[in-house]
Amino acid sequence: MSSVNGSISYNKALEYWAEIPATLDGVLGGFGFISQIDIDGSKLFLKSILSSKVSPGNQLAIDCGAGIGRITKDLLIPHFDLVDAVEPDEKFINTIKSFVGDNSTKIGMLYNLSLQEFAPVKKYDVIWNQWVLGYLKNEDLVSYLIRCRNALNTNGVIVIKENVTSSGISETDDVDSSVTRSLKQYLRIFKESGLKRVKQCKQTNFPNGIYPVYMFALIPNSNDKENSKTIRPGSYKHIVDT
Ligand SMILES: C[S@@+](CC[C@H](N)C(=O)[O-])C[C@H]1O[C@@H](n2cnc3c(N)ncnc32)[C@H](O)[C@@H]1O
Repeated sequence: MSSVNGSISYNKALEYWAEIPATLDGVLGGFGFISQIDIDGSKLFLKSILSSKVSPGNQLAIDCGAGIGRITKDLLIPHFDLVDAVEPDEKFINTIKSFVGDNSTKIGMLYNLSLQEFAPVKKYDVIWNQWVLGYLKNEDLVSYLIRCRNALNTNGVIVIKENVTSSGISETDDVDSSVTRSLKQYLRIFKESGLKRVKQCKQTNFPNGIYPVYMFALIPNSNDKENSKTIRPGSYKHIVDT
């Protein structure tokens, strides 16, 4: 996995995003038109999590690598009382409130930070990470996910929605200094982070020619000794869907 780390420069990624306009098309790399399909797929996934036997609460969520607040606005605010966001690009984070518009009173803390620097100080019901983890080096990603794991409220869930490669190995993008990992690499990272999948879904209805996109719902792994005190009995049995 060392090739992943060698391909990522945090400064280069921030320089790339600094040049991108604060629009839907900007944050989606020219694919603004897929936003609604993406949100519809995420809604189904989130609803199935929220209606499970051990569902998370609906008080506080966080949108990590939030861009202009696309997910905050159309997915999280309709389902949670309050939504925090983390985003390193100043122009993007300064756009979130106006982009959200009418419901901006439901925006909580806005953290102008990169995820490798972010240490949550609150407990969250849902921690949503989408199209952002490819900017993190492996070790930083594992440390970040461990911090997220420790920041989950009772029955809280970490959601990851990311591109994955079909080739089975990671692929690099020199333009924005990111990597696309394989499914296997993600599974290994989840394991190293003391997380287990309770639900997995592939996004449907996306145009041809883009990477497959997977959604994972993760909870602390009860076999992880360090974390065993905060675990609840599992009743998510049936829902790993590969
Ligand atoms: C493809 S956009 C996705 C934005 C948002 N998640 C969405 O789906 O609309 C990637 C976002 O990740 C942010 N980003 C890049 N490197 C990051 C890092 N190390 N930590 C947190 N966010 C990062 C960029 O500034 C940008 O807002």
